[in-house]
Amino acid sequence: MTTYRGNPDAVRALVQPDRVHRDLYISQELFELEQEHFFANTWNYAGHDSQLPEPGDYIRVEIAGRPLIVVRHTDRSVRVLMNRCAHKGSQLVNAPCGNTGKFFRCPYHAWTFRTDGSLLAIPLKNGYEGTQLHECESAKGLVAVKNVRLYRGFIFVKINDVGPDFESYFGDSLSSIDNMADRSPEGELEIAGGCLRFMHQCNWKMFVENLNDTMHPMVAHESSAGTAKAMWAGQPADAPKPMAIEQFVPFMSDYKFFEDMGVRTYDNGHSFTGVHFSIHSKYKPIPAYDDAMKARYGEEKTAQILGMARHNTVYYPNLTIKGAIQSIRVARPIAADRTLVESWTFRLKGAPDELLQRTTMYNRLINSPFSVVGHDDLQAYRGMQAGLHASGNDWVSLHRNHDAAEVRGGEITTVGTSELPMRNQYRAWSRYMTETM
Ligand code: FES
Ligand SMILES: [Fe+2]
Repeated sequence: MTTYRGNPDAVRALVQPDRVHRDLYISQELFELEQEHFFANTWNYAGHDSQLPEPGDYIRVEIAGRPLIVVRHTDRSVRVLMNRCAHKGSQLVNAPCGNTGKFFRCPYHAWTFRTDGSLLAIPLKNGYEGTQLHECESAKGLVAVKNVRLYRGFIFVKINDVGPDFESYFGDSLSSIDNMADRSPEGELEIAGGCLRFMHQCNWKMFVENLNDTMHPMVAHESSAGTAKAMWAGQPADAPKPMAIEQFVPFMSDYKFFEDMGVRTYDNGHSFTGVHFSIHSKYKPIPAYDDAMKARYGEEKTAQILGMARHNTVYYPNLTIKGAIQSIRVARPIAADRTLVESWTFRLKGAPDELLQRTTMYNRLINSPFSVVGHDDLQAYRGMQAGLHASGNDWVSLHRNHDAAEVRGGEITTVGTSELPMRNQYRAWSRYMTETM
């Protein structure tokens, strides 16, 4: 068995231009190296600004295996701190979210820290007189993550100080986040309600790859979306479609539909399907919403915003968004064969409630742990996770529409059924993974 730690050449050899080695999905050693290197070297989504309306509001997240607190500081800026007491390492907060007031107080010995991480007070401080405490890291307070960036309310962090800055890392792929926010008549999004958490017994990469895999819906979702389609068959073309039918049926579109939909890739592993149209393009208009949009943006710009109905955008590695339906899914890797998928829904500020109903229905029907569609995907991932333990073939094929010139990178638009997005992800994976090894 190959040992990957300290062996960047062996890691690079796992990614070939048109195929990847199965260890990418099943090796726990690689998973641990990914936490240490890959996730720490890339920009990851941490949360949304609207989860922290007041100073002292915080959320707890884990990125690259590091326990983090994302908090609104007293000056209203968003700070990201290591959730590790400067004294003996206790976590400062255990709840997934809350309000800490003006400072964090460690639950073990009550050292306190301001919401920018600086040390505020230590009980019985005279015990430290004449010691070297003031000269060591502990006196500086909580470790703050330097690379934090808010983009239209989306909070991204990068743990290590290597690699491109935020703008260069995401480039023009940010247009999908823009479109999602522009769909609000006020130009702003707000997280609505809680999060649906769906445990997946698979490697995180299987989930992320699948977001731009358009060769599977008509096959894997035949039992769920196909049933909805059969139930609706025979209805007159102008019969008003229930929202569930409107959302299920497009999954059963044919190969040509997905091929013509188009895919676009960007450097650093980002991509989206639905360049020309998508499974979200034919939702029925909501007149009050259209009016609110036109009042804000005018006729032409409204048509432009709503005409852009991208399917899934992958912000590599951990965020995937559906701008046209205002929902996002976040991959939280737990082990080589375990990934928690979080689904969040957004309210478009200034839009009628019907939009949010459409979003939450989509999330329940397609993304949630009680979804029939989501289970089709999960079954496929579980099948791969088990099947890849077979011997005799160590490689996963990503040959569909491979073109040797694509390694040059940049923005590429091609047929929607291409496996280019996955190849593009693994080229980025290989680069970031080995950057600090
Ligand atoms: S571990 Fe936090 S105060 Fe001691
Ligand atoms: Fe699917």
